[in-house]
Amino acid sequence: MNALILAGGLGTRLRPLTNYLPKPLIPLVGKPLVMHIIDSLPKEVDSVILAVSYMRDKLEEYFKENDVGRTIILVSEEEPLGTGGAIKNVSRYLDDTFIVMNGDVVCSLDISDMLKFHKTHGGIGSMSLWTVDDPSAFGVVGCKDSKIMTFQEKPKREEALSNLINAGTYIFEKEIFDYIPDGVVSIEKQVFPKILDKGMYGYEFNGYWVDCGTRANYITAQKILLNNGYAHVSTDAILEDNVKLTGQNLIKRAHLRNCNIGPNVYIEDDVLVSSNVTVSNSMLLRGSLIEEGSTIEGSVISQGCIVTKNSVVTDTISAKD
Ligand code: GDD
Ligand code: MG
Repeated sequence: MNALILAGGLGTRLRPLTNYLPKPLIPLVGKPLVMHIIDSLPKEVDSVILAVSYMRDKLEEYFKENDVGRTIILVSEEEPLGTGGAIKNVSRYLDDTFIVMNGDVVCSLDISDMLKFHKTHGGIGSMSLWTVDDPSAFGVVGCKDSKIMTFQEKPKREEALSNLINAGTYIFEKEIFDYIPDGVVSIEKQVFPKILDKGMYGYEFNGYWVDCGTRANYITAQKILLNNGYAHVSTDAILEDNVKLTGQNLIKRAHLRNCNIGPNVYIEDDVLVSSNVTVSNSMLLRGSLIEEGSTIEGSVISQGCIVTKNSVVTDTISAKD
């Protein structure tokens, strides 16, 4: 079986991190975002198509250096074709029944179970669904006995017909291509509303779900994963003097000295955290240096950055020029 990951977005809301890394490769508790998605695929998925547009060379390099146990096919679009156009663009690689996933979602969806659901309902497609308080930033779905009756892409809050949103994983039958026009197409805006009478079914699930597209949500995704088994302090980490750890954190081969770390902190290899530093809800990426007396909250300190003495860094993504 094969699966398509839509990963052609520019990641503008995660700049400047995405100035040097394509969004699929941004780190999340020790592995790139796209690997969380690939690892969530059922065993029977032996090839994964990645529809990309930006920094294809970095993705190629990553998959050359890391054997992920499945065939990876990178397909680039000269110009972004939209979600529907990107799916149609790779139709030659797809089986009669195939999986499509938004490339920025981290969730606990059981895709094998969703496949069973899809086969039982027998429609043209199935869509994963999640409940949120404010659905206005998402696709909003109205369902009757699992059948999707209405679909609104990013409606005004007061116009949203439910709190149930498109959670960004689909299983489609190849017949879907009859309903995707050529060129730039949004599957959400131009296709879903037109195929509901062909049988689109909604699959709700429990656990966790987050779209990592913004800094705040990216850090929330880290928190969820740290609370779901990813927290760990490496035996190669050096904790010197009085290092106070609070809550769930993942600390790799870093050097920490007399500081307060946590909750929800990820520290990569070769990071040095100096005395009287406080870090919470943040990521310190490889080789960064945090000088004495600084406070870091809600932030991503990118590879090799230096946070100078007594700085206060809040709700920021920093990167070297
Ligand atoms: N290849 C390719 N080409 N990929 C694209 C393109 C394109 O032109 N445009 C977007 N994508 C990819 C993005 O990289 C992302 O992984 C996915 O498609 C969804 O696009 P976003 O830009 O992140 O959309 P969104 O988050 O505003 O809304 C979508 O996701 C929500 C769930 O997170 C919609 O599908 C909503 O209906 C849904 O609720
Ligand atoms: Mg998104």
